[in-house]
Order: sequence, then structure tokens, then C-alpha cells
Amino acid sequence: MVNLQTLSPILGLEITGVDASRLTESAFAEIERAFFRGQVLILRGQKLSPAQFVSFARRFGPPEPHVIDQFHHAADPNILILSNRRKDGAPLGLADAGTYFHSDYSYLQVPARATLLYSIEVPRSGGHTLFANQYAAYDGLAEPMKRRVDSLVAIHHYGNRNVPDEMSRTAASSLTDEQKAKMPLITHPIVRSHPVTGRKALYAVSGSSYGIVGMPDDEALELLDELAAHATQERYVYRLAYRVGDVVVWDNASLLHSATLTDPDDPRTLWRITVKEAEAGLSAVDVLAASFASRVS
Ligand SMILES: [Fe+2]
Repeated sequence: MVNLQTLSPILGLEITGVDASRLTESAFAEIERAFFRGQVLILRGQKLSPAQFVSFARRFGPPEPHVIDQFHHAADPNILILSNRRKDGAPLGLADAGTYFHSDYSYLQVPARATLLYSIEVPRSGGHTLFANQYAAYDGLAEPMKRRVDSLVAIHHYGNRNVPDEMSRTAASSLTDEQKAKMPLITHPIVRSHPVTGRKALYAVSGSSYGIVGMPDDEALELLDELAAHATQERYVYRLAYRVGDVVVWDNASLLHSATLTDPDDPRTLWRITVKEAEAGLSAVDVLAASFASRVS
């Protein structure tokens, strides 16, 4: 039995007294159930090598290396280094990543199931992650809005639709031309049935969604902005403060998340791994969206 504690009334579970590198199958099964129930799961006090961190992540799904490959960990490309540290003037990791509400890999046809962060170095202040519960955000929509959006499909690509200036600290991390060329235009339902729990959630209405299939752009953007404002209200949001040794795992299908900016001179480092959903978990709507995407790209 693992020891679970609720982090907040909105979402989140904390586990103490487990070593992520030595979990039996039954202990991991309990952790996985807690992950889908809590949406954000924190394992405190971990001490993991890169290989151990990757092995733990792999139990949630297949890792997918990030498109920003210049900050992959030297020991394993599945790990992306998030850090504001510099050596001889050169950055040692990706700084200011994801400082706007988004869902990881929502710009890919098979999006992220889970993102795992391993906290190596915590800044003196800030460096929190905000999580917004998208099951609750969907449930909290007025009935006419639910009916309006239930069958709509959003068009996604890499980026933050609200901050087009790539040099801004709150823009999506900028890509090289070669990395941009790898990024397709794809689609996802705005109301997505969770691939594991089956529960309806608003999906990636902030971040990578830039339009709605069959809707004029101005109308689509107005609706997406209205949904994003609703979905990120304080009543749906939990703010996570990291401790050194935390491993945090979150469910991208039922959450939006946002990093908070830190002082560039206040060192902080995290290792990140993102694992994808199983392809077999795609719903019929996803399959239709995939065929649409192949026609427009
Ligand atoms: Fe993210």
C-alpha cells in the first residue's frame, strides 16, 4: 500500500515513502490508478539516475523526445533539461519553457499522456507550475455552451496563440527552421473523452489551438479565448511549489498547465520526460481528425 495524501480540493495527490526506482508491479499499478484519479501526482524525496528516471517514466507510456533537441540530456535523449543555468555564456537547458496555459504535445496527432518533472534544483522564489482541472472546467460550462462545443474540432500547431512574438519570455520556446519543418497542422476535439477514464474534458483550448474546423477564424478565436478564460479561472487551478527530489507526473488529457517565470539569476533545474498516449487509445473522433489533418497538411 502506498501512502497517499490529497494536495488540494481541486486536484493532486502526494505519495511519500516510495522509491520510484524500486516499485513492484502491484505498487506501480496503485500509483497509476492514483495518477488518473489525482491528475497530478507528486512522489517526494526521490534520488534517481537518468536511466532510473527514464525507466520509471516508461511505465506510464512510450517516451517521446522533445523537438528541441539541443537540450536533451547527454545520458538519454528522452530527458529534456529545463534550466536557467549557463556555462561560459551558453545555456545549459531550456529556460522559460511553457509559461502560458497549454497541454503538452497537443500540437502532435498522438498527444502526451503524461509529463514527468524531476526537481534537481529549486529557486529561492517562484518556479511554480499552475494546473487547471479541465474535467471541472467542462462540467462547469453552461449547458448551451456544452452543446455548442461538444462536437467541434480545433486546429492545432506548435506555439502559443496569444503570444506570437517568439522573443517574448511567455511565447512558446522558439524552434529552428528545421524543427519548425517537422511540425504539422493537426486537429483534436475541443471536448475530448479521456482515453483512459472516458470522462469528458476541455482539451487544449489555450496554447496550441489556433482555429476551429469549419468556422471563420475571428469567430473561432473568440470562442477559443472565451473557453480559455473559463478553463483557467482560479477555482479550477492548483499551484504546485517544488521541493528538491520531487518527481511530479501530470495527466495532459485532463489538465492545462503553465510554468511561472523565475528570476534568470535564481538557479533552477528540472529534468523532463514526456510520454505519449497509446495509439490504440485514439477515439473515433481522433481518427476522423487524423484523416482531416492529412488532407490539409
Ligand atoms: Fe508544458
